[in-house]
Amino acid sequence: MGKRIPTYEVITFGCQMNDHDSEVMAGMLEAMGYEPAASTDEADVIMINTCCVRETAENKIYGLLGRLASLKNKKRHLIIGIAGCMTQQPEVARKIKNRFPHVDLILGTHNLHRLPDLLSRVRENRERLVEVWEQSGRVMENLPIRRASNVKAWVNITYGCNNFCTYCIVPYVRGRERSRKPEDILNEIRQLAQEGYREVTLLGQNVNSYGKDLPGKYNFANLLREVDQIPGLWRIRFTTSHPRDFTQELIDTIARCTHVCEHIHLPVQAGSNRILKMMNRGYNRDYYFDLVERIRQAIPGVAITTDIMVGFPGETEEDFAQTMELVERVRFDSAFMFVYNPRPGTPAARFPEQVPDEVKSKRIQELIARQNEITLEYNRSFIGRVEQVLVEGESKTNPEMMSGRTRTNRLVIFPGSGDLAGQLVNVTITGARLTHLEGNLEATVGANFSDGR
Ligand code: SAH
Ligand code: SF4
Ligand code: F3S
Repeated sequence: MGKRIPTYEVITFGCQMNDHDSEVMAGMLEAMGYEPAASTDEADVIMINTCCVRETAENKIYGLLGRLASLKNKKRHLIIGIAGCMTQQPEVARKIKNRFPHVDLILGTHNLHRLPDLLSRVRENRERLVEVWEQSGRVMENLPIRRASNVKAWVNITYGCNNFCTYCIVPYVRGRERSRKPEDILNEIRQLAQEGYREVTLLGQNVNSYGKDLPGKYNFANLLREVDQIPGLWRIRFTTSHPRDFTQELIDTIARCTHVCEHIHLPVQAGSNRILKMMNRGYNRDYYFDLVERIRQAIPGVAITTDIMVGFPGETEEDFAQTMELVERVRFDSAFMFVYNPRPGTPAARFPEQVPDEVKSKRIQELIARQNEITLEYNRSFIGRVEQVLVEGESKTNPEMMSGRTRTNRLVIFPGSGDLAGQLVNVTITGARLTHLEGNLEATVGANFSDGR
């Protein structure tokens, strides 16, 4: 038997930044000679990329660590590593080191690029290593990336966050906001387009403040305009947009750029001015209503999605009613809805008047029920319409079907063959669910649509 090629698995929790960091981890592992494992059980290296935005995420990760102990017992050579936002908290890194002796390697968000070095040391010396940097160094360029899709790609434009919303742990575990240089971003995207990628999503905790830390006046609108000119690219997305930094210049730019999709994820968080203020969000409800209005006026057919939280400390029935009223008035295309969860080290965790769990749970149920009705009403309104879909590949839930997204980011499932992946097709929508649309293929969109419109 020849020498077996060592294999890896990266298990990811959290947001798109983490999805993309995991692609970088996979890239570094492959550069070291590892190949993707067929299953977790078979992997020689398991890396867990963690999230700590809510306790539920952390609990899932502790559960996974527990389950991996038995795998390690069966397979002594297995290396288990853990990285990301959760381990960036020093007390959590310590806890994992002490409670989970089968974890070999612990690193944080700021030293992800150290993975190859650290892993080699673990492998060669059979030692346990903990390395978590307190602060971010300079932005790392040119790390290898193993992308999950060959149709669409994530591209970081900023790292970290300066907003310090009082409930949020992200600024503490991701550090201060750093923008990548425009030329580095543009070169990466040009390269992607040349390789045949059709869609990019520009990533940052607050993409709208892109460039504020760079010399000169280059901002997010400038960047979008340049990305829009890159030949071969059909669709441009970005996330997340902070309402406070959403300028009229940016709205007009999105409206004018051919390839920038008509979808804006615009987390509102709450509908009460008192709560928004306590959250340190930097806008009030009237500002938000006006912003939504201006976006809808400038960008016909735009989908606006959001994040909303209930049960922030001090949230009264009246405050919650204001959130419900905002949801009714804005009519979001869809929303991620969360119960506020105190995060150690954040200001809101120490605020008095924490809302009891029963109240939080009643409010979230009411919110989800109403928003889901609205989402479904929107989705049903597409029945009978022909939508342009960028095909991503086989549906994850039903491999007999193909799946892709509309420009407004709605998932569409339809019968079709695998060779459609990476193409733009017209789909007549025949059914609507909460999570996706169903439809039938019209004609494949030919060269006349090759610019993505
Ligand atoms: N940078 C993005 C969001 C990052 S976190 C933004 O500013 O919108 C994603 C979402 O998780 C947030 O929008 C918020 O709704 C939710 N979230 C953050 N901290 C939370 C907490 N402590 N409890 C519950 N939800 C939280
Ligand atoms: Fe967290 Fe607020 Fe920054 Fe978003 S903008 S990551 S919610 S601190
Ligand atoms: Fe979670 Fe970190 Fe993203 S805390 S939401 S993975 S930035």
